[in-house]
Amino acid sequence: MASSMLNGAESVTLIRGIGAKGSSLSSSGINGRSFSKMGSVSFNRYSKGRTLVTKCSLSSSSRPASQPRFIQHKQEAFWFYRFLSIVYDHVINPGHWTEDMRDDALEPADLNDRNMIVVDVGGGTGFTTLGIVKHVDAKNVTILDQSPHQLAKAREKAPLKDCKIIEGDAEDLPFPTDYADRYVSAGSIEYWPDPQRGIKEAYRVLKLGGKACLIGPVYPTFWLSRFFADAWMLFPKEEEYIEWFKKAGFKDVQLKRIGPKWYRGVRRHGLIMGCSVTGVKPASGDSPLKLGPKVEDVRKPVNPMVFLLRLILGALAGTYYVLVPIYMWIKDLIVPKGMPI
Ligand SMILES: C[S@@+](CC[C@H](N)C(=O)[O-])C[C@H]1O[C@@H](n2cnc3c(N)ncnc32)[C@H](O)[C@@H]1O
Repeated sequence: MASSMLNGAESVTLIRGIGAKGSSLSSSGINGRSFSKMGSVSFNRYSKGRTLVTKCSLSSSSRPASQPRFIQHKQEAFWFYRFLSIVYDHVINPGHWTEDMRDDALEPADLNDRNMIVVDVGGGTGFTTLGIVKHVDAKNVTILDQSPHQLAKAREKAPLKDCKIIEGDAEDLPFPTDYADRYVSAGSIEYWPDPQRGIKEAYRVLKLGGKACLIGPVYPTFWLSRFFADAWMLFPKEEEYIEWFKKAGFKDVQLKRIGPKWYRGVRRHGLIMGCSVTGVKPASGDSPLKLGPKVEDVRKPVNPMVFLLRLILGALAGTYYVLVPIYMWIKDLIVPKGMPI
């Protein structure tokens, strides 16, 4: 099921995915509806009686993506995960990143050969890697993360025992150019001070014809959710993802919307795992995009008070997003099935 938008000179396709939550944007489509410049889009009744009404944040002007939110910063992200890794799999994932969402999000990655070389960047505790090794031999998969504490959890998981597990930075990957068949990164971009650089790295490490699959948050439209999202970390808009992929040199860029079942397709609060963006590398070698120096130099000393304040404020803002899925879950229980919530 496809529709398209004209976004300036660009044509972007929206393809329906699975259930009310699933739909996607791609860079090469025809045939469909146009997105309003006012920043929201909705999809109404399609043929065969299937209905999808979705709101997402789309606007013609993007915020500066490299502007650090409190935890969109490598040192704060390190300490944030020092503590969050203790409860991550049991407290965070069930509200935002369920197994069925993961499988839905990985589907556009086309993991169709057990011998593929796959890198899982920002792989953390290995939750997404568990989805990858269903399709690809674990010995061909590398999990990379900046947090040794998150990686320690991945090491405990039996299905991942043959994976390579390494510490590293998504913006400066320790893999050769033209190395991997697939690049996967789930729920990590929101902490990268320079997301465009991370996506350029995704391009570089892929082989010719290789595919990147980046799963990440989407920006809220509800004012309170926007306030906490902005204070916490980066929630990109859908068109920002597409722009970053295209600038890095990717072709056939597509965006598939995902979300927890009990949200019933609601996107106004933003989603920590809200879309799966894919792109194909059309030529071997490095990305054609040239960037200046890194936004953040982790070796530079930071003011400990500023660091602590950012960490505390960022973590407090993040707490709001522990409550949102609970609120939506209660609403889903109360509001009769088939009604909007
Ligand atoms: C929300 S967790 C997602 C973990 C895993 N991909 C999953 O699906 O559950 C985000 C992960 O990104 C990692 N991360 C944040 N910034 C990073 C960076 N610059 N380089 C590598 N990993 C990073 C964090 O340490 C954390 O483990």
